[in-house]
Amino acid sequence: MQIRVFPNPDALAIGAAEHIRALAQVCIADHEQFSLVLSGGSTPMHAYRQLAIETPMQKLDWTKVQIFWGDERCVPPDHEQSNYRMAHEALLEHVPIPSENIYRMACEADPSIGAQGYEAILREQFPAQELPQFDLVLLGLGEDGHTASLFPGSEILTEHALWVAPVYVAHLDSWRVSLTLPVINAATNVMFLVSGESKARILDKIIKSASAREYPAQRIDPQGELTWFIDRTAGQFLGDLN
Ligand code: 6PG
Repeated sequence: MQIRVFPNPDALAIGAAEHIRALAQVCIADHEQFSLVLSGGSTPMHAYRQLAIETPMQKLDWTKVQIFWGDERCVPPDHEQSNYRMAHEALLEHVPIPSENIYRMACEADPSIGAQGYEAILREQFPAQELPQFDLVLLGLGEDGHTASLFPGSEILTEHALWVAPVYVAHLDSWRVSLTLPVINAATNVMFLVSGESKARILDKIIKSASAREYPAQRIDPQGELTWFIDRTAGQFLGDLN
């Protein structure tokens, strides 16, 4: 596990975008594609906005980039709560990515049917694989230690057969759909993006007792690389780790 600390939220967003872009270039050079799983949340959104800003030297071959979501709220794609809408406004409508490369988690009609439908898409994109191996999964962190839509106490935390599952979030009285832990942990790279005062306490608990399993974010333990991209405020209790 690596922790990269940035002086402020803007530097974090820029640093994260640079890392994502560099990883994309390596993956495209290596296997002609970059499968990227997007997260919801305002911290990831700021990184997407930076990723959308490309100088001529940094241009990605977006025809080789495949976009997926780690989770989605069960709302229409133009709803203000939609992770799809957020990613579109922050990134996807600003880069030349073919629409057929964008795999929306369509779960507004029915959470279970939406989850099954997305799993079918993943099984098409990653045929004959035990688990889909994404090149990069982006994750945010909630103050309660949730990530994606893996909330504390939710049944999805013990789901090991399905790749995608519906989640009822009681305290929000809302339905979501999320990738399950085995899928996220099969990724080649996982990046957490964490910023701000409100995340300092939970981040300290998670990083310092990484082996525990009290919080969903602690169950993110990929076969590949796990990197925390944080700003100094969020990392204020991490001491020399910061
Ligand atoms: C979502 C995300 C969720 C988010 C965290 C952090 O759909 O909201 O999947 O896991 O990343 O809640 O969000 P912030 O960065 O906005 O605090």
